[in-house]
Formats: sequence, C-alpha cells, structure tokens
Amino acid sequence: MTAQSHHPATTNDFGAPVGSDQHSLTTGPDGPVVLHDHYLVEKLAHFNRERVPERVVHAKGSGAFGTLEITHDVSRYTKAALFQPGTTTRALARFSTVAGEQGSPDTWRDPRGFALKFYTSEGNYDLVGNNTPVFFIRDSIQFPDFIHSQKRRSDTGLRDHDMQWDFWTRVPASAHQVTWLMGDRGIPRTWRHMDGFGSHTYQWVNAGGERFWVKYHFKTDQGIEFLTQDDADATAGIDADAHRRDLVEAIERGEFPSWSVKVQVMPYADAAAYRFNPFDLTKVWSQKDYPLIDVGTMRLDRNPEDFHAEIEQAAFSPSTLVPGIGLSPDKMLLGRVFAYGDAHRYRIGANYAQLPVNAPEVEVRSYTQAGPMRHTNYPPSRPTYAPNSFGGPHADPAAVTETDAWSADAEFVRRAYTLRPDDDDFGQAGTLVREVLDDAARDRLVGNIAGHLLAGVSEPILLKAFAYWSSVDVTLGGRVERVVREVQRRAVTGDGAAEPVTSGTAAPGA
Ligand code: HEM
Repeated sequence: MTAQSHHPATTNDFGAPVGSDQHSLTTGPDGPVVLHDHYLVEKLAHFNRERVPERVVHAKGSGAFGTLEITHDVSRYTKAALFQPGTTTRALARFSTVAGEQGSPDTWRDPRGFALKFYTSEGNYDLVGNNTPVFFIRDSIQFPDFIHSQKRRSDTGLRDHDMQWDFWTRVPASAHQVTWLMGDRGIPRTWRHMDGFGSHTYQWVNAGGERFWVKYHFKTDQGIEFLTQDDADATAGIDADAHRRDLVEAIERGEFPSWSVKVQVMPYADAAAYRFNPFDLTKVWSQKDYPLIDVGTMRLDRNPEDFHAEIEQAAFSPSTLVPGIGLSPDKMLLGRVFAYGDAHRYRIGANYAQLPVNAPEVEVRSYTQAGPMRHTNYPPSRPTYAPNSFGGPHADPAAVTETDAWSADAEFVRRAYTLRPDDDDFGQAGTLVREVLDDAARDRLVGNIAGHLLAGVSEPILLKAFAYWSSVDVTLGGRVERVVREVQRRAVTGDGAAEPVTSGTAAPGA
C-alpha cells in the first residue's frame, strides 16, 4: 500500500458522498448519537457481517493465480480441452492446513491441501487434492468422525492427542497416511517445496470414447524440503503465517513456483483384476505397473489482490468437472462430490458460482436462477424452464460421456470394499518405511511419532499405538516403544532424555 497525495472522496456503499469518516451524527458536539445516522448504522452493521464462516476443514490457507501449460500429448487418454497439447489455461491454487483454524500456525504437522481451479474453455475444472497421495479413511461416512478426532474437544476446547491416536489405531486404514504425516512430508518447508496429488482415481475419456483411470501428480520444481519438528515449533512461535508469507514474497520477487504435472494412467479394464482395489484412497498405484507420464507445467505468478474475494470465497469442489474427465467408484470421492457444493452454499451462499473467482471464463447457460445475491440471471430474456419452445439452451447428452460407466451392481449394501490379494491396511505403509525412507528419515519418523505420543496419550491408547506401528514395521514399532518408555522412565527418575525425541511434544499436530 502506498500513501496517496490526492484522496478520492469516500462514498457510502451506494456511491453517494459521505460527510465524515470520523464523526458520528450527534445532538450537539457533546450530545448522544442519533439513530438516523444511516451511514454509521450501515458501517457498523456491515462490519458485523464481514466474516463468512471459516471452512470447516482447511480453514487456514492462501493461494495464488497462474497457468497450466500442456507440454506433452495425452490426447489419447482424454479429450478434455485443458489437457490438449499446447493449451495454456488460467489457474488458481489454494494451499492449506487441515485441522487448524483461520489463525493457526502454518507449520503445524498436518497434511496440506492442494486445491486447484482451472478456468478452461469448456468450463471450470477443480482438482481438490492434498500434498499426500493417500488419505486416512476409505469411506466418506467416517469423515466427520475422523475430523472430530483431529479438531478440538467439546469440553475443554483443546486438541487432544489421545483422541487422535484412539481414532487412528481403531481405524487401521489410516496407517499409510499417518506414516506420511509423521514423516518429513508432514511439515513442508514452504508450500512451494511440496508435491501435490489428486489422490483419488479419476476417469479420463478420449475423443473416441475410450476410458482410462488416472491419478494426478504435481511434482514440485523447487525440490522437496521439510521442516524438522523443532524448526516448525520455533517458526510457529515467530510467524504463524510463515507459509502464506513465503508464497506472497516469492511471487513478489518474481520467483514463480512451478510444478511438473504428471499422471499415472490405468487402462479401464485393468481395474477389475489389479492386485488391490485401485479406487481405495489409502493406496498408491505402483509406478512400476503404471509409470508417470509427463503432461505439462503449472506455474503461479500472481498474488491475490483481494484476499477475501479471491481466496476466502474461492470455492473448490471435486464435482466441478469438464467433458473428458469423470469420477470413479471411490467411496471417498463420491461422498466429496456431495460435500463441497453443500459447504459452499452454506458458507458463501447459493450463488457462490457467480463470484468472479468462482465464475468460469465461458458463458454460463444454466437454468438455475434467483436466490440471495444473484446479480444476473442468464440471459434474462430466455425461458426459465426446459424443455421450451422459445430458443432456450438444451442439453447435449453426447457432450458428456463419462457418467456412470462404472456402475456395476445395483444391490444396496453397507459393506467394505471386496478384498483383493494385496488389500491390507499396513503393507504400503511398511514399504514406505523400509524402501522409500533412508536411515535419517526413519530416525526422524521415530522421533516425531514418539514426540506426538508423549504429548498426552493415555496408557491404553499407547499400547494400541505400539501395536499399530509394529504392524506397519516390527523394527519401527519396537523403536517407537523403546523411546517412549525410556523418556517416561527418565521423567520419573529425573534423568535427561537418552535418545532424541522431537520437541514437538506439546504441539497440537494433526
Ligand atoms: C475442504 C469435506 C476428503 C482436500 C473441505 C471442505 C469440506 C470438505 C466440507 C470445506 C469446503 C469449503 O468450505 O470451502 C470433505 C469430505 C471428505 C474430504 C466430506 C471425505 C469424504 C478430502 C480429501 C482431500 C481433501 C480426501 C484430498 C485428497 C480438501 C482440500 C480442501 C478441503 C484441499 C480445501 C479447499 C480450499 O482450499 O478451499 N473438505 N473432504 N478433502 N478438502 Fe476435503
């Protein structure tokens, strides 16, 4: 912000000049304020309504605008216009933590949201992912319970590691994601230094109507960097907005962060016989089976100019799809398809799609109309119903080919996915620990887990946590238990700690 020598005149919200920014209308200089000071009333009443409710999850975050440029030819997998070779599409990215509130520190241990909006020539496409390729649960019916266990207790208003570990150990499906979370990826150095993933399996359809399953990977070109728990704790105390600030300042310096966009593509028919359920969100697909395919580059080069209008009211949803991209029988994804639009209608209002940040670049010819804050019905002269005989838009079933292609069985059941040979909860988490992490990363993992467990986890839940980590990897489980027991013993005897435990014992973490 720069000081201006010439100040334009203040107006009220309806454009008329106001008499004073500083003095209410009173009966004489020392007398009471009068109710017919409608400018004062407007100002105070509007102030009371300045906040929209914060997002129920991912409340703390920020983002920037940029582009997606397609540098490779994936047209044999999808007809979506934004993925055609040579296409450049305007994009918005919002990064976030999950469990913390609006003012919470950016450096708490938590997955990071990686929400993308592409303003394509066929309407908006949202990819609402995380910085991890997997998730804690595999059925959306568990999401509110999972989030309750990570948020604050209803009695004390405190976050509580006991309930976090209680939930995780009672839901072994969480093991893979908790291993990511407790490792280095649980606290990225900045948002620029983390990968993004679509996480779910989506459907791609090419111009010939051929279907594929696809997983998205956004590989950071800045390199993966992380904060140790100690560094993150220190940063949280000094600058709760460290990641928000880093992104703003990097873009101001002209250091535009970018990500190499890649996909794994699975032929449609492979899904039926793959050795584990390829729609299970707690699993990654082996890159030996389905190697990464280059697609293009996403670059962020413009900071928001109005945080509330462009970031706080940005509304992302996995249901915002374009022709050539569809859903999959992932029970989490299908739950999310309902949840986000519903959240936006509650949080922002029924007409959230009309706000500039959410509006597509293409003409909208929808039959929704009216409602609070609707500023235009498109086009005002057209019929308000379909079908009609007066030239209103009509739907074209041929334009959208990817719905319901996978609906296999019409029997209504409440059951877990049918198990396949490699469908166990701990296998991929164990592989991550043994084959992906090096010795130093494994040491930090042990320290992070032990530090988290030592922050108020009760004895019965501790025993479950030791068993949980032994199921992931026997050696890891043994090490975690030894460190926790040693720190507890020394706390009783008054000795110093023998092995390093991260100092994040009091950090709320996710
Ligand atoms: C935000 C629900 C799983 C990524 C949200 C919001 C809701 C929600 C209600 C707030 C939306 C708003 O007010 O703007 C759910 C449900 C899930 C689920 C019901 C499980 C069925 C996931 C998964 C991912 C994810 C698996 C990542 C792969 C995000 C992100 C945001 C978000 C990135 C923030 C979007 C933004 O920046 O505005 N979620 N979520 N969620 N969720 Fe989920």
